[in-house]
Amino acid sequence: MPVDIVVVGSCNLDLVVNVDNIPQVGQTVLGGDLKRIPGGKGANQAVAASRLGKSVAMVGRVGEDDNGKFLQSNLEDNGVNTEYLLKTPDIPTGVALISVQDDGDNAIVVSPGANGKLSPEDIAVASPIAGARVVLLQAEIPIETVVATARVAEGTVIWNPAPAPSESVPLELLDLVDVLIPNQTELELIGGNRKVDTLESISELAKTFPCSSTIVTLGERGAVVVASNEAVHIPAPTISPLDTTGAGDSFCAAIAVSLVEGKDLVEAAQWAVQVGAATTLVAGAQPSLPTSEEVLQRLENW
Ligand code: RIB
Repeated sequence: MPVDIVVVGSCNLDLVVNVDNIPQVGQTVLGGDLKRIPGGKGANQAVAASRLGKSVAMVGRVGEDDNGKFLQSNLEDNGVNTEYLLKTPDIPTGVALISVQDDGDNAIVVSPGANGKLSPEDIAVASPIAGARVVLLQAEIPIETVVATARVAEGTVIWNPAPAPSESVPLELLDLVDVLIPNQTELELIGGNRKVDTLESISELAKTFPCSSTIVTLGERGAVVVASNEAVHIPAPTISPLDTTGAGDSFCAAIAVSLVEGKDLVEAAQWAVQVGAATTLVAGAQPSLPTSEEVLQRLENW
């Protein structure tokens, strides 16, 4: 039976340290105890979509090491199908070094490891992709693999271009994408390094992309949905975040889940801003990803 959502993306072990302030260049700071947390934008989105109630398969690569085993069993414990999570000899599992400062903001360095080896050939044999209702992609795997996936997918293609690609994005990819979900920085980079800040300029830039629709995430300002040349601003709940890691991932997963449920993009984004906000109220990437009930509980109890 086809799965609702296939995620093609990264699996990382997150090494997390809390600090008062993220260090500047050349600075050394002391932080809290090191935490080892399952992460990776792909795996986070897969776990988030599963916790929000949909059947999910993960296509990706990990190393043949303890970190890879840890991440695979964590995905399985969260109900994610790992039949197409491939092992990569002689290459370590991806790792992310994360500093989280007091106001919840973070800085992340990713060592892609095995994620960088996920190839178009791997996609050609990952049979659940074609039949999935939604295929969810990010940018922690090679861009040619993202393009190969979008070509094969027959359902809705969502691309979260995070982290912002350093090279120009193939036009073919933007043509194949149904829903692009960048944050403001990613929007600016994909838009040719144009600086935008007002809701109006953000919407105007998003309208220039050839993909069918774009949802720009704006943190505490919420999100803007741009489709059919119309822009709708969705405000975010007012909260004080504890840790923003994973909030973008749960937002994307909530959009995917909502589209499977037949919601339109504005309804989907209204739910996704709540899911993203609830994610910031708990520390760590995957530990923070809420079920639908937890979204409402966390926002009520805040
Ligand atoms: O979006 C958060 C994720 O980014 C972390 O889990 C880390 O692994 C990096 O991929």
